[in-house]
Amino acid sequence: MDTNIESHLKETRVFQPSPAFAKKARIGSLTKYRRLYRESIAHPEKFWAREAKELTWQKPWNKVLEWKAPFAKWFVGGRLNVAENCLDRHLHGSRRNKAAIIWEGEPGEKRVLTYQQLHRDVCRFANVLKRNKIGKGDRVIIYLPTIPEAAIAMLACARIGAVHSVVFGGFSADSIRDRIADCGATAAITADGSYRRGAIVPLKHNVDEALKGKTSIKRVIVFRRAGNDIHIEEGRDVWWHRELEYVDANCPAVALDSEHPLYILYTSGSTGKPKGILHTTGGYLVGTHTTYKYVFDLRDEDIYWCTADVGWVTGHSYVVYGPLAAGATTFMYEGAPNWPEPDRFWRIIEEYAVSILYTAPTAIRTFIRWGDEWVKKHDLSSLRLLGSVGEPINPEAWMWYHKVIGGGRCPIVDTWWQTETGAIMITPLPGATPTKPGSATLPFFGIDAAVVDEKGREVGPNVGGKLIVRRPWPSMLRSIYGDRSRYKKQYWSEFKGSYFTSDGARRDKDGYFWIVGRIDDVLNVAGHRLGTSEIESALVSHPKVAEAAAVGRPDEIKGQGVVVFVTLKSGVTPTPNLKNELRSHVGTQIGAIAKPDEVRFAEALPKTRSGKIMRRLLKEIASGQTVTGDTTTLEDFNVLAKLGSAEE
Ligand code: WTA
Repeated sequence: MDTNIESHLKETRVFQPSPAFAKKARIGSLTKYRRLYRESIAHPEKFWAREAKELTWQKPWNKVLEWKAPFAKWFVGGRLNVAENCLDRHLHGSRRNKAAIIWEGEPGEKRVLTYQQLHRDVCRFANVLKRNKIGKGDRVIIYLPTIPEAAIAMLACARIGAVHSVVFGGFSADSIRDRIADCGATAAITADGSYRRGAIVPLKHNVDEALKGKTSIKRVIVFRRAGNDIHIEEGRDVWWHRELEYVDANCPAVALDSEHPLYILYTSGSTGKPKGILHTTGGYLVGTHTTYKYVFDLRDEDIYWCTADVGWVTGHSYVVYGPLAAGATTFMYEGAPNWPEPDRFWRIIEEYAVSILYTAPTAIRTFIRWGDEWVKKHDLSSLRLLGSVGEPINPEAWMWYHKVIGGGRCPIVDTWWQTETGAIMITPLPGATPTKPGSATLPFFGIDAAVVDEKGREVGPNVGGKLIVRRPWPSMLRSIYGDRSRYKKQYWSEFKGSYFTSDGARRDKDGYFWIVGRIDDVLNVAGHRLGTSEIESALVSHPKVAEAAAVGRPDEIKGQGVVVFVTLKSGVTPTPNLKNELRSHVGTQIGAIAKPDEVRFAEALPKTRSGKIMRRLLKEIASGQTVTGDTTTLEDFNVLAKLGSAEE
């Protein structure tokens, strides 16, 4: 039986980098990219060592890579400090007074921290940590909104070698408790509350709930953000601002082994028990710094805005570590994109003259749904580069991003990577790579990605298969915290010596990667294996559709039938006729085989808090089951209730 994933979606539009952009870019042509890529694959250690030398090492490494599959050590014997590289390194020249972080709170407060100021704040807070008996190797939970203090807390941990685990501020007390228990954290850093759509999220209260009963946490440091009433547990809880009164700004950066743990970040994806993804110091910093520099082709005058929350890996690698290591100005916004109105993002871009915007397809589809009028109110001419991450971007969403946000002039970097990979893996380089809407294009330097069949053999052009990486790279996860055997089994057991991403993909005749979604989500309809993202993209290309999710349900004849959940654009009325129209639309876009057996209209789709559609839940609903299993990552429980009762 043919077990390969079939790919039917044909996208023929190609966008060349503009000569003006290419002229200034670090990598200014496809030929140059290909040459450097070939070299980086022939001699990866040489490539990564060259990049690593741009950073500050307190002691040089004696070996670039030690690979005892599946365990890697990068820059063996080297010593460095991530906070030193993100801060102290920039204090000698004119960057000292450059804005490191520009922040806007949801209610509208504005703050600017120069590198000099951020350095001072981090040193002082690192001394607060020490004062509270937090030291090298201790695990620290950070449960904060997207405010500068989140970056300060992360960098302060890094400065003294404490290991942070950021928990997204939208997660519940249960999630916090599980994560504390899994990593044995002894301290937590939180705020009284945070703002979301005008309301206050009671962060400290959630922490209190999480600490009821037996806990390893001995100290909670509380930042005053929202001013809401909170409980202070004597002997356990202290105020951030009070603690600062006892410390000075003198805190040398500890020289840490290159493989010293930097952070643990829990990821559940859309299925299963959360895994504590472990990242370490040297390789992670080299990976994030190198990718940041080339993929965003940073200029010193850029204002760069990645809209991710600090609670996600994108918030770690491309709000904090990558940009600060590169001496960029990173913009942070605390709140919701539709507060007070749906044009908040465009208002921000205009006001701060943001030049690089990095966001997620789920956000882009939401903006499309809200309507172009919100964008048109603002001058977005400061933008010069756009990025996308988190899901396959549907070609129509890509086109909208390109035209409406980018004014047709900004390159789009569609970056494929994972919490586990630490840094961008497959991506265009904006001055070099011709882009095709919906494709993450080509692998980054040193990344040996391939699409293979069940036996691990590389498949030919336009044949779907599994996406793997055939050799280690510096920013890769080192393990699942406390569970080396799960790490081995989950990522390295399916294809010997290779990392399995769990994603399905195909490469086209130009070698471009098209990610078709998680393998778990692949449908098998009458012996045809179809990626969910293609069916969804076909639906989103219909002018009335805002978002779509495709799932399988058991079907006696075909094995699986296709059920699609569709949200319509504002103002469109759901009718039975429209259902038929959408079925035929998928038929003409992809082929009869992909025609949905059932179309369901939904007001909203169940998503994880990082914006990924939870197909597992939809699958259960589609097959008439009650929803079971983990729903703690769900953004909005009401959505689920409504879907369950959705009529045909
Ligand atoms: C998906 C986010 C297609 C993919 C950085 C991956 C993408 C998972 C893209 C990781 C992209 C991320 N195109 N799919 N550009 N970026 N994905 O761990 O399925 O939150 O495996 O990391 O998101 O999600 P995670």
